[in-house]
This record gives sequence, structure tokens and C-alpha cells, in this order.
Amino acid sequence: MPQRKKIRVQTFLEKKQANEKIVAVTAYDYPTAILVDEAGVDMVLVGDSVGNVVLGYDSTLPVTMEEMRHHLRAVRRGIKNAFLVADMPFMSYQSSVAQAIENAGLFLKDGAEAVKLEGGTGTIVQIVKALVDVGIPVVGHLGFTPQWIHQFGGVRFRGRKSDEAKRLVEMAIALQDSGCFAIVLELVPEDLAVIITEKLSIPTIGIGSGPHCDGQILVLHDLIGMLPGWSPRHAKRYAQVGELIRHSVEIYAQEVREGKFPTSEYTIKMPPEELERLKQLLQRF
Ligand code: KIV
Repeated sequence: MPQRKKIRVQTFLEKKQANEKIVAVTAYDYPTAILVDEAGVDMVLVGDSVGNVVLGYDSTLPVTMEEMRHHLRAVRRGIKNAFLVADMPFMSYQSSVAQAIENAGLFLKDGAEAVKLEGGTGTIVQIVKALVDVGIPVVGHLGFTPQWIHQFGGVRFRGRKSDEAKRLVEMAIALQDSGCFAIVLELVPEDLAVIITEKLSIPTIGIGSGPHCDGQILVLHDLIGMLPGWSPRHAKRYAQVGELIRHSVEIYAQEVREGKFPTSEYTIKMPPEELERLKQLLQRF
């Protein structure tokens, strides 16, 4: 395998300037962290989507700092070259600048190289500024931001109408000015993503926002087809890993029930003389 370079915060700006696409994906545990890192992605996000795709919650709102830190530390142990970002969960940063700094600081102590937080209102911009001011790199997140689901009234594209689109452009500029080094654009129309991408000097990383962002991110479990049933329209399935797991376990179960597993290649025997001696020893009881 060719030697890869460690991705650093500056790499993202360099890639935008060189017109090279940024590849990002989520991961939530040690084995998938190893795999996505070996696959050569630029950025790994320990997303609060862990709530939906790993913990079985119906939104990201219940995810806690403790849960995020547990998954972050596992992912950290599996990553060598990719740049590691952790999502700040709902209500871990919104209450005050002090709360945001304390919690983002815990993530950096756990091995994250940046944090991501959602929204671009005045309060969020102030929090981003404060984090950057104390040396914590920040990725912004605009468009459909899952922690705002109740405010938005459901999962839907943001910025279809010109007024809302203008507001998103303004928020993107405000986040850039406050020090974000990249912005995730989730579920915005692709023509709006083009406008934001052209207006910013920092890279945009799209999810469901068309091909013209500076990079793309997908939730790993959507990309590999881990969960049965529905998957979001924007998420291309590159494999059917869930089906593979289910099928493997079905065959295993069948073989156990039929006495076909384990065969001699999966077990060992005692040396014959030791077995003989054991039988003699047991005769004494
Ligand atoms: O939590 C997450 O997985 C995310 C992506 C959708 C970007 O924030």
C-alpha cells in the first residue's frame, strides 16, 4: 500500500485551491475507522448520526456527550491519516460559550482534531468564534441541520425559496468570517450549493446538495447498505453489507443446528498420551 500523507486542517483549503475534491465519511467504531482510513478518505466524522444508525434513536437529539466520547475514542484508535472531526451533540454547546469550550475541549483531549456544530444564527456564530479563538478548529453545518428538526418541522431541503436561500448564503459567510475551516451543506438545492461554494474561500462539503460542492460526505451505514429498508434519496448504496451479515449468520446458525460447525479445522485435540493420563487420573475419583 502506498505511503499516505497525514491530512491536516490546512489540507482542506489547499484542496479547494487546487480544485481537488474532498472525501469525507462517518465512522463510529474501531473496525470501520480502520477500514475508512485505509480506503484513503480525507476526513472522518464521528457524527451524531451515531444516534440513528448505531444506537437506534429516531433522531440525533438524545445523543449525549458520553456516547459521543465513547465512539470518538474507539474511532481515534483506528485512524492514522484521515482528519478526525467529532459532532457536538444537541445541547452540548448551545447554552453558553463556556459550555461549548469545555465540551469541545473534551473532544480534543479524546483525539478529535476539530468539532462540527450545526446552524449559522448569531448565537452559533459567537460560539464558533470563541472556539476558534481558543484553538479549536470548527466545521460548520448548514441547510438541513438534524438538531433543528422540530424548528424545521421535519426532514426537508432548505433554501428552495430565494429568501431562505439568501439567509443561508449570509450564514455561510458569517461562519467563514467567524473562523470555520469548512462547512457541511446538507440538503440544499444544488444551484444554491454552487453559489455558496463560489462565494466562500473555505471548502463546502455536501450531503444531498449536488456534485458542485468542494467535497462530499455520506453516512457510512447508508453508503455500505448496513440497515435494512429505507435509505435517504441522496445516499448511494455501494454495497449490501447488512444483507451479507444477515446471510452469514443464517448459514452459521444452520450449520450449528445441523452439526456441521465446528469441523476439525476449527478445534484442537489433546495429545493422545495426555488424554490417556487424564482418563487414569479421573479413575481415582
Ligand atoms: O451526523 C452526521 O452524520 C452528519 C452528516 C450528515 C454530515 O452530520
